[in-house]
Amino acid sequence: MTKKKTYKSKTDNNILNEIIRVDHAGEYGATKIYDGQIAVFGKNSKIGKIIKHMADQEQEHIDTFEKLIIKNRVRPTALMPLWNVAGFCLGATTALMGKKAAMACTVAVEKVIGDHYGEQLSLLKQDQKKLKSIIKKFQKDELEHHNIGIAHDAKKTPAYGLLSSVISFGCKTAIALSKKI
Ligand SMILES: [Fe+2]
Ligand SMILES: [Fe+2]
Repeated sequence: MTKKKTYKSKTDNNILNEIIRVDHAGEYGATKIYDGQIAVFGKNSKIGKIIKHMADQEQEHIDTFEKLIIKNRVRPTALMPLWNVAGFCLGATTALMGKKAAMACTVAVEKVIGDHYGEQLSLLKQDQKKLKSIIKKFQKDELEHHNIGIAHDAKKTPAYGLLSSVISFGCKTAIALSKKI
């Protein structure tokens, strides 16, 4: 007979599904943003190599959530095709604006994702220890990306404040939509 584990606190199933769905969507979007930037800069340029390092970590993140979507039988967001195009366009557009704008995009996006991971950590209970440790690790990677952006003069982008607010708002909207749709 297999013993069933009992937990003092259990994560609400709807919340768990939303977390997996939105993180899967977000990590997918992140890979597309960096794809868009690399398409403009080229992967062998100096900045391209820096972005490639972050893109490789995003690939690891999306691969993990791809597995979790299947394992937990969570429906992925219906908006994946939209995030594909929107992510790529955001990456390509900011890259066309220049290196600093591309880094400002990273700073804005990674800040929203990092904060969002932080909120999720408080929603996940004892029964989701493994997912919590995955999210903690990814949150650390996103913070690293954020700091890479800062270190590469993101804040020196012309109209940094405006660009950053527009991107943050877009990301927050994408998060709200991907949880439900
Ligand atoms: Fe990520
Ligand atoms: Fe990231």
